[in-house]
Amino acid sequence: MSFSLDEKLHTATAISHPNIAFIKYWGNRDAALRIPVNGSISMNLDGLETTTRVTFDPDLQSDSLMLNSVPADESACRRVSAFLDLIRSMAGISLRADVESRNNFPTGAGIASSAAAFSALALASSTAAGLKLDEPSLTRLARKGSGSASRSIPDGFVEWLPGTGDEDSYAFSIAPAGHWDLVDVIAVVAAGEKKVGSTEGHGTASTSPLQTARVADAPRRLDLCREAVRTRDFDALAAVMELDSDMMHAVMMTSRPPLFYWEPISLRIIKEVPRWRSTGLPCAYTLDAGPNVHILCPAAATDAVAAHLEDLGGISQILRAAAGGPAQLVL
Ligand code: DP6
Repeated sequence: MSFSLDEKLHTATAISHPNIAFIKYWGNRDAALRIPVNGSISMNLDGLETTTRVTFDPDLQSDSLMLNSVPADESACRRVSAFLDLIRSMAGISLRADVESRNNFPTGAGIASSAAAFSALALASSTAAGLKLDEPSLTRLARKGSGSASRSIPDGFVEWLPGTGDEDSYAFSIAPAGHWDLVDVIAVVAAGEKKVGSTEGHGTASTSPLQTARVADAPRRLDLCREAVRTRDFDALAAVMELDSDMMHAVMMTSRPPLFYWEPISLRIIKEVPRWRSTGLPCAYTLDAGPNVHILCPAAATDAVAAHLEDLGGISQILRAAAGGPAQLVL
């Protein structure tokens, strides 16, 4: 497709959810293409969403980016422009774009927004540029913006295959959102920007002597997790999900420089959750590259988990998210 100055503006809006990984992505084999060293499995988070509108406009001299109605900082602009360059080269256009993105979840609460951001951007910008990508191709495109964004394109419970290169590193749904009534109860324990972002962290993962063992055992954990999701076996999911989170954080803590994402309250919750589970309350924890604790539980256990968290104190906010659907265009 080609654009000329007198054609109408090319615009599209997409909406997407963040996701929480049960089996984590940590470390790249190819950092530029974001080909991960291991596969991962996640659940999209319903109710939390990013809405992004992209307009390719012949009147623009450069790309512009607004985040929650405020002009984005330089590094966010550069990352988005680099992503739009991919779109431009795929579509054979040179037009600059106006990008407006909004999150409905609290900014600065440490809820990873790059997955929702780049999955929404991939869908909106490719559509606005006239590209008609199938789902696997869209997941590969989103992956190049942020690895975890590949998992926010398909529906519900999603696996991202590590692959060996650009073509075979893609994500697909292993079960739709309605398959299992799991809820992510998110204990927001610290506000503010994290000190070392995941992109930087992926780069130092291989400096940990534990990373080789973590990666070598990943296929086994992926099999256990996929089967636990397929059969809705909460105890099996709890065991493999907590192990996988602990292994990733062990790698983080033993990398150079070391990354300690936990706050004292994070560790308190990590120690409490298995205790609650031993009293018959189904719940299990996982943490991403930050101090917030995600507690997964069946919907029926949500209120009890939230009440336990409130009793602990020291938590600034509790969010709840069921399994969410795929990234979608807003028509
Ligand atoms: C700990 O996808 O945020 O949340 O590709 O550099 O954007 P970039 O990294 P990102 O890494 C996510 C790391 C994680 C684990 C996970 O979501 O699998």
